[in-house]
Amino acid sequence: MPIAPPSERNWWDLPLGIHEKIWLTLVVAVGLGLFIMMPLWHIFGRQNPSTNTYRISPDSYAAKVTEWSKGTRQVAQGLAPPGQDVYLLGARFTWFPNAIVLQTGVSYRIHLSTKDVNHGFSIHRDGEAAQKANFQVVPGYEYILTMQFADAGDYSIVCQEYCGIGHQFMVAKFVVTERG
Ligand code: CUA
Repeated sequence: MPIAPPSERNWWDLPLGIHEKIWLTLVVAVGLGLFIMMPLWHIFGRQNPSTNTYRISPDSYAAKVTEWSKGTRQVAQGLAPPGQDVYLLGARFTWFPNAIVLQTGVSYRIHLSTKDVNHGFSIHRDGEAAQKANFQVVPGYEYILTMQFADAGDYSIVCQEYCGIGHQFMVAKFVVTERG
């Protein structure tokens, strides 16, 4: 029972007022505009979508990452990949490797997958979203993102998909250094 019932008992039978008509027109127009923009954002938004996706079992992917990590170089800030391929394995509640050392201006192929549940892969710098990358990482698939870093610095890799009780601790980083 509302606090103040409408004075007209059959209020639903009354014609729409002008303000309601304007409001509904605006809602429909904005909704249609956003709907039309959905594919256009992919073209004009310069987003960083995954262009390659492969099916892979979580165990095979984990083995691939381990194999790749043997070829990396351990430096003070983390693991430096031998080439342009970089592998990241998400698992509750870590990323492996935890710190990867990259160089500016190099086009990297970032491989992503997860061992257990859905995780999110996003990149942040100084608290701001960076690299136009925010992905859902689903077990059973290997995603490959191509990206370059223009500026040196620390970039946080943050899980943006709630994955359990330790979700907020699932952080790793790219340490980007000047190309030398
Ligand atoms: Cu992984 Cu949240």
